[in-house]
Amino acid sequence: MTTLLLHLSDVDEAEWAATYKRALPGVTVVRQSEPYDPAAIDYIFVWKPRPEAFDGLTHLKAVLSLGAGVDALLKHPKLPDAPVVRFIDADLAQKMTDYVVAQVTMHQRLATQFKRDQAARRWTQIYPPAAHHTTVGIMGLGQLGSDAAHKIAALGFTVIGWSRTPKTVEGIATYAGDELDVFLGETDILCCLLPLTPETTGILNYGLFKKLRRKLEGGPVIVNAARGGHQVETDIVRALTDGTLGAASLDVFETEPLSPDSPLWGLDNAYLTPHIAAISDIDSGVRYFSQIIRDHEAGKPLPAVVDRARGY
Ligand code: NDP
Ligand code: OXD
Repeated sequence: MTTLLLHLSDVDEAEWAATYKRALPGVTVVRQSEPYDPAAIDYIFVWKPRPEAFDGLTHLKAVLSLGAGVDALLKHPKLPDAPVVRFIDADLAQKMTDYVVAQVTMHQRLATQFKRDQAARRWTQIYPPAAHHTTVGIMGLGQLGSDAAHKIAALGFTVIGWSRTPKTVEGIATYAGDELDVFLGETDILCCLLPLTPETTGILNYGLFKKLRRKLEGGPVIVNAARGGHQVETDIVRALTDGTLGAASLDVFETEPLSPDSPLWGLDNAYLTPHIAAISDIDSGVRYFSQIIRDHEAGKPLPAVVDRARGY
């Protein structure tokens, strides 16, 4: 009998377990708090696993990650050698695109300027640029970045993208690797949808902000919905205060939850959300991973396996 162990923190593990049980009648589904034989576990489904999560799982066929981002999981000191399969999902991509579209259009329409004018009861007619006069630079052209890029382009924005390896994307000028500075020099609104790896840690820093194009009224804007580890928050505060950046939309933070002491809370050009841009949906998550388990039990290879050397 195939056995799936659920080991989830900060989400409704009971609901995930009940949904898996309905989807996989031939599979034994156990939760971390229930008694189980570790050596009998075939698959473990994880989110923020505790230090002991993988203890004794000697016959594991795969680690299934509820999250699309696996940076924290790959740092788990006891992560077994089994393949790590991450979540790829249209619902997740749509939610992330919803977030990015909302932030991009808000900044293109100069929301911060008009908010300040409203607070000052000031009537100033500044004219937002048409979408095609605004260039949105997407860092990361993977599952989420490419979905956002296509849909933002469909709204009429000029969209450019930057990835690790060269890409051809219809209607979007693309840059790769060491072409970063050229990409930044053309970007008015920068959206980070990179995975967190040693190469991308701290990439959103003051030096990078200085390289962004200064065409948008009020200054260039950053949007980060990837990981807090990409950003240097003291640099963001400095840049938002001295005008290097016009605004920043941040869904993720160096330390989550964001401390009540963070100066970011008090900045009227910082738009903060508590890591809710795109949350994995239970029904589509269970559908996706149940199919993977059924297929793998039938001898098919695992899809979406993380490349541990690359870090994503
Ligand atoms: P993918 O792995 O599909 O795509 C990653 C992209 O980043 C690829 O285009 C890749 O380049 C590029 N990339 C990686 N390293 C570098 C580098 N050093 N320089 C330039 N480009 C690089 O990831 P997803 O799109 O699925 O997800 C992106 C991230 O979004 C996740 O890792 C996660 O952290 C975050 N996330 C946040 C959520 C939230 O609610 N805030 C929800 C879900 C995910 P290449 O194509 O050449 O490999
Ligand atoms: C994810 C996330 O990586 O929710 O899926 O951040």
